[in-house]
Amino acid sequence: MENAEIRADIPLLEDIIYLDAASTTPTPIPVVDAMCDYYYHFNANIGRGAYRTAVKATSEFEKSRSKIAKFINCKAEEIIFTKNTTEAINLVANGFDFERGDSVIVPNIEHHSNFVPWLNLKSKGINVKVVKADKYGVVDPYDIEKEIDETTKLITITHIANAIGSVQPVYEIGEIAEEKQVPYLIDAAQSAGHMKIDVKETKADFITIPGHKGFLGPVGTGFLYAKEEIIGRLKPMNLGGGTVIDVTEENFKLDTVPGRFEGGTQNIAGVIGLGKAIDYLGRIGMDKIERHSRKLTSQMFSEIDAIENSVIYGRPENIYGIVAFNINGVNTHDVAKILDEQRRICVRSGYHCAIPAIKHIGAYELGGTVRASLHYYNTKEEVQILAETLEEISRLLGD
Ligand code: ALA
Repeated sequence: MENAEIRADIPLLEDIIYLDAASTTPTPIPVVDAMCDYYYHFNANIGRGAYRTAVKATSEFEKSRSKIAKFINCKAEEIIFTKNTTEAINLVANGFDFERGDSVIVPNIEHHSNFVPWLNLKSKGINVKVVKADKYGVVDPYDIEKEIDETTKLITITHIANAIGSVQPVYEIGEIAEEKQVPYLIDAAQSAGHMKIDVKETKADFITIPGHKGFLGPVGTGFLYAKEEIIGRLKPMNLGGGTVIDVTEENFKLDTVPGRFEGGTQNIAGVIGLGKAIDYLGRIGMDKIERHSRKLTSQMFSEIDAIENSVIYGRPENIYGIVAFNINGVNTHDVAKILDEQRRICVRSGYHCAIPAIKHIGAYELGGTVRASLHYYNTKEEVQILAETLEEISRLLGD
């Protein structure tokens, strides 16, 4: 599928220049259609009814799980659906068998969702070791390795820092985690769907993935990949209907995995839409997506970098899909508002739910950064318009 075909599937792109994929991506028509098909034709609950409509809903829901598993090279039973990445990370933070005196290693360039849940463990006597990235927002695997000792219960890191776009050495860290036998969690919120991920190659025990970003799926969807060998060490956090196989007046017996983690009625339409989004990515091809996004990221970096008064974060050869910057003398939100008002360009501005990362790159006092982020549906013309408009803002208001 070519870029123009994808754009034709996303009506929103007729009106705006959408450069906020790191927040969420617009949903292609076939994904919306798959959800509508569920609502119009087999809108029943899953895993419960014996009638044919309910059986069909269950089967379509489980098909999505299988498609995702195939896409990231794992077993269907290793996928636990959640409503977003944050919930998936919290499931590990609160459900894994941490004990007082254990420690967790986490870098300082994380999204709050892969930072606050770990800080919160301090109240349970868990030590949190924060590793500093370099000035470009990249973590040195050796700095992680140095922090490992007999108390280390988990290493976690984002694949691509949401505030900076810096790509982290997740494969090298995976080697270290495997060698030292330390459980390892990757937050793939900004990489999944933007680049190929084979869970086996990462050596991760847990990977958290949103449905509504790189995957082009619906909002309210996401999942946790939990490796078969470790999933049994995770306690479900949301008990109730669908999580047990037997209940007496005194006790209950948990269902097998992943059912025990998916309490209550799920986002059935969303998950079915997510399955369709996986088909959609497959039709484009991950290699093509990656080539396109690398080219556009590099164009965006160099065009913004060339603007007088621009300050850009990260190293061009090591960022992907996201460019964070400032125009000296202009407030971040003002830049975003002018981009929108002048050319209907949508970018995010501010702290990007990553205050420690923003402080680390020295952008806190500036009110954070302006962040442009892309996907396969973006074009080089759109990036040019962004750069031209920024150039104008810089000329008129920058210093
Ligand atoms: N996590 C999303 C972002 O970085 C919302 O914008």
